[in-house]
Amino acid sequence: MEPMIRDARNSDKSKVLNFCKNTFSWGDYIEYVWDYWISEGGLFVVENPNPIGICHTFFSENQVWIEGIRINSDFRRQGLASKLIKYVELISKEKHASFSFMLIDTENLSSLLMAKNLNYKIFQTWNFYSLLPQINNNHKIQFAKNLNQTKISHYVKSWRWLVLDKETSLSLCDQNKIIFSDDSGDISIAILSDSEHFDKTLIVTLSSGSQINTLELISYIQNFGAEKNYQKIQILTKEKLPLTNTLEHKIAFNLMKKFLH
Ligand SMILES: CC(C)(COP(=O)(O)OP(=O)(O)OC[C@H]1O[C@@H](n2cnc3c(N)ncnc32)[C@H](O)[C@@H]1OP(=O)(O)O)[C@@H](O)C(=O)NCCC(=O)NCCS
Repeated sequence: MEPMIRDARNSDKSKVLNFCKNTFSWGDYIEYVWDYWISEGGLFVVENPNPIGICHTFFSENQVWIEGIRINSDFRRQGLASKLIKYVELISKEKHASFSFMLIDTENLSSLLMAKNLNYKIFQTWNFYSLLPQINNNHKIQFAKNLNQTKISHYVKSWRWLVLDKETSLSLCDQNKIIFSDDSGDISIAILSDSEHFDKTLIVTLSSGSQINTLELISYIQNFGAEKNYQKIQILTKEKLPLTNTLEHKIAFNLMKKFLH
């Protein structure tokens, strides 16, 4: 039987989670986001006749974000992930999305090869750092109040790189969620957002200008995290940050992009 692609149903959950337990050396996150993805929609399975692969899509502005691509290890190298992605790209074109994006660990060579074969290009490389919350009242930052101070095109929301449109930007400014420091050298800017999938997790998009300015932002974020009782602070940045005993470089990701039309 030719494998078929369809919308995921909640009844697929246990079968899917069965093959998404030990995907990576650290396990997998699908079990934590499954319910959320089902309610959000855009979750697809490939079945044969049981579910043997998944991927999730998220549409915003003129782009589709593709995440959570998983193929049961017994069924790999049969073109199934490629089939799923091509299927999603077709739907995306129907929805007039111009670009498709996905995020791939720079060391995940099989996935990078798959993306390259599907004509995705490395658009940017991002570093993921974890920062420990810590009370620290010594920081000098400013809150962005208008669009001129928010010169960032995309921001990370729940590990999706989304367009920072005017409305979102103004709303984040109103909430004091866009901070910057331009005291010494090039400006550093950070955008703070809560993870929608994980409790007490702060996700920060950081554009690092000078090291001094960035360290001011990091001190503020650390203190903010401690005062608001966040357990985890995840920083995503294109730049390399100065390591401290509370800032750890975890992994680097390629942001893969494809023009769909
Ligand atoms: C990456 C993954 C989704 C690929 O699924 P798949 O169904 O096996 O991929 P496809 O059969 O469509 O592969 C397409 C092409 O990608 C490349 N590729 C895929 N897996 C590869 C591997 N293990 N080694 C080398 N190349 C590989 C090949 O070029 C392949 O074409 P070919 O088989 O004709 O040589 C699958 O290995 C998987 O689930 N891995 C764990 C989860 C993961 O890494 N997900 C992606 C996170 S971004």
